[in-house]
Amino acid sequence: MINIAIDGPSASGKSTIAKLLCNELGYKHLDTGAMYRCVALKAKQSGIDYNDKAELEELLENIKIDFSSEGAVLLDGKDVSKEIRTDEISMLASDVSTKKEVREHLVELQQAIASNKGYVMDGRDIGTVVLPDAEVKIFMTADVDTRAKRRYLENKEKGLKSNLRELSQEIIERDYQDTHRKHSPLKKADDAIEIDTSNLTINQVVDKIMVIVSEVLPKE
Ligand code: DC
Repeated sequence: MINIAIDGPSASGKSTIAKLLCNELGYKHLDTGAMYRCVALKAKQSGIDYNDKAELEELLENIKIDFSSEGAVLLDGKDVSKEIRTDEISMLASDVSTKKEVREHLVELQQAIASNKGYVMDGRDIGTVVLPDAEVKIFMTADVDTRAKRRYLENKEKGLKSNLRELSQEIIERDYQDTHRKHSPLKKADDAIEIDTSNLTINQVVDKIMVIVSEVLPKE
């Protein structure tokens, strides 16, 4: 078994593709963005000032993030899969992810999880920081309009209301923040393969990655 790292900007299709790859390969999916979202939700719920180092460290010491076997995201034992997907938490997650303490804490957890191999992990710094030795690294992109439309449809499916123009604006803001932060900014690893998914179907993207994976997987 190998590990597969998928990085890219928000709404570029990373999670959707990661889940399908896991089905194909019988691997496990780790959505690292969901972990940053959990930190953001907990900060909001407990009303802490995450710019205060001591308050933030206490939050991190007490946070428990798990994934159920069905893929639900559990924060301190409670299913928060829906709550972490709001536009407000998206922006807050991008904000808390700029904090060094948060990154160090979550990266350590992510590396421990992936040490057994057989993971498809998606995020912003997987190929560069979390799993620099991942056997396959993909950098997934798509233009802003395509990504905003995808998020809009995704929200609609989940029964969440959103506005296309606001979504585009939010994506542009998050792109800026995620690529310009001091600690582990979003960037393509030198050895990652870039795939622009703007004009590709989901199946086309999965097929492309499966070809790359099959070249790396040890032959039986
Ligand atoms: O993938 P996502 O949109 O659910 O991620 C939410 C935020 O978390 C994103 O704006 C940046 C941050 N993030 C990160 O900094 N590093 C990761 N590996 C994953 C997410």
